Amino acid sequence: MAEEPQIISAIRILFEVIWTHLRLIFEILKALFRFVVPPTPKEVNEDIILITGAGHGMGREVALRFAKLGATVVCIDINAKGNEDTLKMIKQAKGKGFTYECDVTDREAVMQLAQKVEREVGEVTILINNAGIMPCKPVLRHSEKEIRTLMDINVNGNLWMIQAFLPAMLERNSGHIVAMSSMAGKMGLRNLVPYCGSKYAVRGIMEALALELHEDPRDTNGIKFTTVCPYIVNTGLCHNPRIRFAGLMKTVEPGEAADQIVDAVRREYHEITIPSDLYYTNKIFNLFPPAGGRILTDFIGTGLDPHD
Ligand SMILES: NC(=O)c1ccc[n+]([C@@H]2O[C@H](COP(=O)([O-])OP(=O)(O)OC[C@H]3O[C@@H](n4cnc5c(N)ncnc54)[C@H](O)[C@@H]3O)[C@@H](O)[C@H]2O)c1
Repeated sequence: MAEEPQIISAIRILFEVIWTHLRLIFEILKALFRFVVPPTPKEVNEDIILITGAGHGMGREVALRFAKLGATVVCIDINAKGNEDTLKMIKQAKGKGFTYECDVTDREAVMQLAQKVEREVGEVTILINNAGIMPCKPVLRHSEKEIRTLMDINVNGNLWMIQAFLPAMLERNSGHIVAMSSMAGKMGLRNLVPYCGSKYAVRGIMEALALELHEDPRDTNGIKFTTVCPYIVNTGLCHNPRIRFAGLMKTVEPGEAADQIVDAVRREYHEITIPSDLYYTNKIFNLFPPAGGRILTDFIGTGLDPHD
């Protein structure tokens, strides 16, 4: 094939540069508009929402809220008792719910779960990868088993659930995947070295997945992604929080966090932090050179002391 004359390829690149700039400006204006006028929350009363780790903490609170909004909630947990308690609360509030005991680290069990849920409840439209654990101590005090278990639950569990539920979403070009990362997935925190690694990984998985589907030749625009990055939520997961300025880095009750998670899912936000102002604080921190960021972190003096 004859090579394109240099002048033509130069003009082509120039047009591409102009087009890229115009698209960027459009996206910035759209984001500014959305900041002032948030998107309308979507109805979820026809949705089947599957939540891992629904037997306690934020997972339970999110399950209760979605059930109140009329969604059919599929509660997944390794802790059958906690999960049944969540279902009881859903039923008491006249909601629709199902429970399945499943360990998200067991890929085979997760694949079977997907088939069972589809047969017995229907196709999952919103998947919330919430199950997670958080051992908290200096990195050299973590055993090999603790680190492997942490990565299996917090990272691989997300991947198995995605592999199990994404294919049906792709077939329908419709669905929503939600992941619980953490502020520990946006900044390093002492005593949480493996946990931070796992939560950075969750954000990486979500970003890469969104990009991969964006480049997929099929139409995948109907599949949405939301990543949630809470700081400290009072579920019992963080035993020894150290807070210097409560107004700046406050701990949040699970119900309050769940309200924000449900709102973010319904408005199809790409990423949220809890509390929300940490989103901008974190962006400002990232403008500084690494030593500057550490000076600010030392001043704010917040973090977690070891659990044992
Ligand atoms: N609580 C916080 O301060 C905080 C902050 C940031 C991020 N997060 C993240 O939010 C998510 C929920 O946190 P939480 O505080 O509500 O936790 P939680 O401990 O209250 O509840 C977690 C639930 O996950 C379940 N679970 C654990 N391992 C599982 C497995 N292998 N398979 C299935 N279920 C399993 C537990 O049984 C439990 O019911 C976690 O991913 C956590 O890392 C929590």
